[in-house]
Amino acid sequence: MQGLTAEQKARVEKILSQMTLEEKIGQMNQVSPSIVGGFDVPFEELIEMMTDGRISKEEFGRIMSTATQDFHEEEIRRGEVGSLMVQDPVKVNELQKIAVEESRLGIPLIFGLDVIHGFRSVYPIAIAEAGSFDTELMEKTAAMAAKESRASGVAWHFAPMVDVARDARWGRVSEGPGEDPYLGSRFAEAKIRGLQDDHSTTENYVAACLKHYAAYGACESGRDYNTVGMAMNVFYNNYLKTFEAGVKAGAQTVMAAFNDLNGVPCTVNKFLLRDILKDSLGFPGFVVSDANAIRECVVHGIAEDDKDAGVKAAIAGMDMDMGTGIYHDHLVEAVKSGKVSLEVIDEAARRILSVKMWLGLFDHPYVSEEAMKRYEVLPEEHTSLAQEAAEKSIVLLKNEDNVLPLSKDAKISLVGSLADSREEIIGAWAMSWQEKDCVSIREGMEAEFKNVRYFACGGPEGDLNMNEIIAAGDYADVIVAVCGETVAMSGEASSRASITLPGRQKELLEMLMQTGKPVVLVLMNGRPLALEWENSYVPTIVEAWHLGIRMGNAVARVLSGEVNPEGRLSSSFPAVTGQCPVYYNHPNTGRPGSKSKFTSRYLDAPLDSLYPFGYGLSYTHYSYDNLQVKEAAGALEISVDVKNDGEAAGRETVQLYMQDVAASLVRPVKELKGFEKVALNPGEKKTVHFTLAKQDMGFYDNDRNYLLEDGLFRIYAGGNSREVLMQEVQVSFA
Ligand code: BGC
Repeated sequence: MQGLTAEQKARVEKILSQMTLEEKIGQMNQVSPSIVGGFDVPFEELIEMMTDGRISKEEFGRIMSTATQDFHEEEIRRGEVGSLMVQDPVKVNELQKIAVEESRLGIPLIFGLDVIHGFRSVYPIAIAEAGSFDTELMEKTAAMAAKESRASGVAWHFAPMVDVARDARWGRVSEGPGEDPYLGSRFAEAKIRGLQDDHSTTENYVAACLKHYAAYGACESGRDYNTVGMAMNVFYNNYLKTFEAGVKAGAQTVMAAFNDLNGVPCTVNKFLLRDILKDSLGFPGFVVSDANAIRECVVHGIAEDDKDAGVKAAIAGMDMDMGTGIYHDHLVEAVKSGKVSLEVIDEAARRILSVKMWLGLFDHPYVSEEAMKRYEVLPEEHTSLAQEAAEKSIVLLKNEDNVLPLSKDAKISLVGSLADSREEIIGAWAMSWQEKDCVSIREGMEAEFKNVRYFACGGPEGDLNMNEIIAAGDYADVIVAVCGETVAMSGEASSRASITLPGRQKELLEMLMQTGKPVVLVLMNGRPLALEWENSYVPTIVEAWHLGIRMGNAVARVLSGEVNPEGRLSSSFPAVTGQCPVYYNHPNTGRPGSKSKFTSRYLDAPLDSLYPFGYGLSYTHYSYDNLQVKEAAGALEISVDVKNDGEAAGRETVQLYMQDVAASLVRPVKELKGFEKVALNPGEKKTVHFTLAKQDMGFYDNDRNYLLEDGLFRIYAGGNSREVLMQEVQVSFA
């Protein structure tokens, strides 16, 4: 992480001293290109028409291509815009030229975009990539996205999304690193390093944006945008953790969440934005609202009108308004009438200018001709990194009869419409990919195996084709059925009340099983699914998520055994939807679920998740032994032996958990405290060492005091959060 030099700080102050109130507020205004014409209905209705199916996506695209857009050139010229969402480098340069050469002070614009899991080279969705447990990989993919987007003029990513999320009904679990604050924090740090830390040229880094601050992942019942109520100790020990880690790693910006936290929408939440983020954590960058969120404070019932919402947001510490124009329209008057102080405006403008300075935009505002051409053809380095990330994110859930890996000569019936799509491999929130760079599962399988025949048979939507199902059975030595969710079924505004396989895919699997041929189920989805039936009846299951442009190759190479699967689950999978939220690190109860009736359980669902956090199989087997825990000065020194008992070389993720057995607040039954990936050849054994700093063994109370309490701790190590070795140890923090 690198901050501003004294000289850069002085430059910011000098510019600030020359700015009018209107220009300062201009910096606080982010706009998107507005659609101003070209069709007969309002733009919002057009979006609704596409969403509810009145017009197809293709028709929408065709209409949009005829639309006229307003890029707010006049406002830019007047210094009334600080940021825009645009990704076309030619347009970026055109608008930047107006800002730099035609506005009074020549302050450059900052162009931001949702680059959540890749720009041109789309890599796995975050919930999948986090399951690689490979922080070096996470950093490298972020660095790749930074370079690619900066070559298009996008210097600010609305990423990483670091919301801890434990309810798989929420569609946005796809965008974040899963249910665990420790893994999520390591993910946050790796992403910040990758996006921000290579300053060898201004073309190699962007400003990151930690989002959505805060606790958005805990929206009630997994329904998007819903209310969040939680005890503050739960907030501090879980949901705040990933943001804390990201801020420490140097994140330049933060986006506030849509939801309220205990009654106060994050957009106007002074406690969150000022007291915690800026004052206590010392966050030096700027905070942007989520899209239209300032206006939504009126509907939320916390502000009387737009102006009131703008005043409340500014006072709370919201530096930039995404998309409403409320700051632009109302803050000048609010300052003049004394409702908002000039210090508030100065602070926001200073923070925004500082990030622009840090990005080098004052000296290098434009995208060069050379940069624009750089990724016309994706470099091999990028596509192979996207593929490596995809391969490392695949989780083998079940391989009962060792059907996998498949022989390259096997006659494979590849089934399911998802298998034949380049669009559906990409995942939610990717907008800069090109179809020519994508490899569908069908294409990947045909390249990897000699005898592959594709039979659509059915998919997440629509009917089943009986003739194709019969033909698939007739041809096959083995059936590979690709089932799951379309991209549109996860991501923002895509909560689901039932998270089983959508449509008629269960029937499809039943019919395929009836052919008597072995069935390998390859899942393509954006959230944990409830797979009780599939786990009971389908012998082989591979979780392949939405893996990005090289998904086809990655899946094929795992199925053929060229790649030994090593991904682990970053989120627990429920058996049935009604168990949601289900997560391994839940607080204990006085009556933990058991066989007896009066315990914390459902009458009609299993006690625990179907597949726990950290779980994943491979084509070999690892055994654990000899867990040792020794108390040293300021830390516990822990070691465990892990051995590859099988016949394939592989990489195991050794996981370290802890439980504070008795404390002044109820603590989780287990908490991840470390992990390490180890490569092991067949028969090889290694001893893995962890140092658990005592400082990291405490927890926050409801007033955010960090407590280290002497007493009994349990230390666990193993290959997932359920199957672990355990040692007890008395710890004193004196
Ligand atoms: C999402 C954000 C996103 C923003 C800008 C919002 O709807 O919640 O995650 O960054 O739009 O596209």
